[in-house]
Amino acid sequence: MRDKIVAGNWKMNLSFEEAIHLATTLNGWVADNQPIPQVIIAPSAIYLQTLLEGVDEQYIKIAAQDVSTHEKGAYTGEISAQQLDSIGLDYSLVGHSEQRQYHGETDETVAQKMEQLYAHQITPILCIGEQLEERQSDRHFDVVKNQLLQALKPQIVENLTNLIVAYEPVWAIGTGQTASPEQAQEMHAHIRQVLLEEFGVELANNTSILYGGSVNASTAEELFSQPDIDGGLVGGASLKYEDFTQIITSIKA
Ligand code: PGA
Repeated sequence: MRDKIVAGNWKMNLSFEEAIHLATTLNGWVADNQPIPQVIIAPSAIYLQTLLEGVDEQYIKIAAQDVSTHEKGAYTGEISAQQLDSIGLDYSLVGHSEQRQYHGETDETVAQKMEQLYAHQITPILCIGEQLEERQSDRHFDVVKNQLLQALKPQIVENLTNLIVAYEPVWAIGTGQTASPEQAQEMHAHIRQVLLEEFGVELANNTSILYGGSVNASTAEELFSQPDIDGGLVGGASLKYEDFTQIITSIKA
């Protein structure tokens, strides 16, 4: 059966010292509070290796926030899946709406990144979600289905072993406006149905689908109690130890 997961997306926040302090404190808390859902944190790339070494992977997994579309070569500033793999990394976010918005990420580049990740046995945390106007014009189910299917092109699906999906409505990210549990559940059920129809029952049942977008300590419990919500991808609140640990305990392991 699928895992319950709480992932913290630290985005471009925290100094080196702050990152180490938060990660090691969390590690201690997770160790003391077993059993607990799977905890993943996605720090800035320059901290990945230190945090991989600094936490116990039995308690906390480390994820990259992004990966290059390319295998290797003259791509200044980029980090390849092969390089992530070479430091022992097992997870990466891909297709985050901030990459789509500020760095011209398209469904095509998301698919290329997915292919790179699978080629190096890194589990993608695939972020999908509609804009406000797409929801207002009642296109949100189609938009999300399309993003999902574009990311899972046939050459990728052949290698598809592990997949985590994060449904993050763009209007809910960093706005304080969490989707209601009903809105989130119906979209998660839709995503699972698409996985079922296109790829079969095993993938549909085994894929953890996380909700992201202004998850906080007071909204987490009701969201996480929905049958198709397997946890959360948490931005702002993951930077605060008290809030993040409370969010983790809101989920039934
Ligand atoms: P937020 O960010 O929790 O701050 O809304 C979530 C995300 O972007 O992954």
